[in-house]
Amino acid sequence: MMKAKLTLAALLTLACMGRAFAQQQVPAPQNVYARQSISLNGDWNYFADVQEQGYYDYRMNPTQWGYFLNAKPQRPSDLVEYDFDASPTMHVPGDWNTQDEQLFLYEGTVWLKRDFEVKSEELRVKNEGKRFLLYFGAVNYEAIVYVNGKKAGRHVGGFTPFCFDVTDLVKEGKNFVIVKVDNKRHADNVPTQIFDWWNYGGITRDVLLLTVGETYIDDYSLALDKALNGKKRTLNFSLTLNREEAGQEVTLSIPELKLKQKFVTDEKGQINSQLSILSSKLQLWSPENPKLYSVEIVRGDEQIKDEIGFRTIETRGRQLLLNGKPIFLRGVCSHEETAYTSRRCNSAEDADTLLAWARDLGCNFLRLAHYPHNEHAVREAERQGFLLWSEIPVYWTISWKNADTYANAENQLRDMIRRDHNRAAIIIWSLANETPHSDARDKFLSRLATTARSLDSTRLISMAMEVTGAANYVNRLQDNMNKYVDVVSFNQYIGWYRDVNDAPKMKWEIPYEKPVIISEFGGGAKAGLHGDKGQRWTEEFQENLYRENLAMLEKIEGLSGTCPWVLKDFRSPRRPLPGIQDGFNRKGLVSDQGKRKRAFYVLREWYEGKKASYN
Ligand code: GCU
Repeated sequence: MMKAKLTLAALLTLACMGRAFAQQQVPAPQNVYARQSISLNGDWNYFADVQEQGYYDYRMNPTQWGYFLNAKPQRPSDLVEYDFDASPTMHVPGDWNTQDEQLFLYEGTVWLKRDFEVKSEELRVKNEGKRFLLYFGAVNYEAIVYVNGKKAGRHVGGFTPFCFDVTDLVKEGKNFVIVKVDNKRHADNVPTQIFDWWNYGGITRDVLLLTVGETYIDDYSLALDKALNGKKRTLNFSLTLNREEAGQEVTLSIPELKLKQKFVTDEKGQINSQLSILSSKLQLWSPENPKLYSVEIVRGDEQIKDEIGFRTIETRGRQLLLNGKPIFLRGVCSHEETAYTSRRCNSAEDADTLLAWARDLGCNFLRLAHYPHNEHAVREAERQGFLLWSEIPVYWTISWKNADTYANAENQLRDMIRRDHNRAAIIIWSLANETPHSDARDKFLSRLATTARSLDSTRLISMAMEVTGAANYVNRLQDNMNKYVDVVSFNQYIGWYRDVNDAPKMKWEIPYEKPVIISEFGGGAKAGLHGDKGQRWTEEFQENLYRENLAMLEKIEGLSGTCPWVLKDFRSPRRPLPGIQDGFNRKGLVSDQGKRKRAFYVLREWYEGKKASYN
């Protein structure tokens, strides 16, 4: 029981500091890596707090003497029963599960602390009207953030960025940031309490202390308009300042295109304008030619550089058109988990290994399952020419009628689109995966679809629907959400969860005049286990399943893409089978140790055929 023994004066100062300044969550500025910042990545002290003693008192009321104070005994008799500086460290960004064996299966609260210096010259900017924004790429699941013992804010959702204005909290010299991270699963969360991946906890992505002006460029968008006007194309440019300030001059330059144009913000602090360019001059982004242009946006002493590709994506009946030409998405699904070490990815290097495997498979498309992956991975995939499907973790049966659950899901959708809406590689926003039909579900998802379309009309909307059964070998996709999506996508597991060896007899009815993507199919195999093709878990069983499924899918009218489940065996607490799964979902085409299974080559051959037929 933590009763206050610190000197009253010290405690009172500490306590009232918490209330002094109402900190605020601010939208994470567009393209944070192009902003002036101090990285707070590195080794953070940590300890687990199973009973959340550092947050609640023994009556389970939130305490003001919590661990966030980072208290130190002032006098020999003082009682302080925790000490961050004497506690072990883990690397941030990173999950705690693979950095501390004791936390491998841990779900609960962990406190993490890091000290950081703010030099006087850095602080002086504050007097010149600069602001400090504390940015987190992602924290799984709930994060309560404190700076110098004062609460900066709270965030829920494990896969999208968030940001707090901490200008009033940072001081010259030594500062400390403390984060209470809790990855406990709850029914009303997004995702809900069951999901087929490892519940990696921690500060899983970059932490930055950004320095911005009192007024700063909050968001911007630069994209190619679908309309062709003669020999010219149009680039749509919009920009938003963090506050309504008219008359701000902004210069946009694309040196390689000899484009440089001045704009002025309107009374809302916004710019919505267009630039015209000769089509002949513009290289369009595509998997074959992932052309990115260096773009520079300048406003006073604020300068933002970005790498942006220009392409269009649309549908025409059951066809998918990239830059106006029909395309087949040669895809694979992938979790954000590293090869070989199976921990949370958080860098371009982590992504690169997985992308190399996907390229070797003959892919031009990745379904980033089932949550937004880190920005480094998205940008790396874009540099390497992979088209992307990005999804929010509205996964299986969530609390459709719970208003907070909906608000949480919509926030994640907004933050996903906000972070990546300038990424040419992303062509599809996915709203959900395998959700059970009900009016409440339809209402929930249709609201998300409307929101997504209002936020971004340049990309396609979809979700992973399901076909879980056939009548007389006829599989029929029936989903009210077909009205809200541009591409109808569904998961089916013929040959694994149902109808083993019946794929050749199967027929499909997809009564929607839209392109079709098979967002999941597949089966498990233990790499190196060989035997009869009728023997589950052998590579031959998986190989045969792929052969039969691909032949079956080939017959689907409007088939515009396939995304087998899954690129790599990945950790899941739902997969205990000893000697086979051992805590891994084994549906990978590649094992977690990089071993390509026989099915890998079946799919590669099929994709070579697809590539040839679409060239
Ligand atoms: C589901 C689900 C995946 C899961 C897979 C499986 O379709 O979307 O997250 O891992 O099936 O059962 O292996």
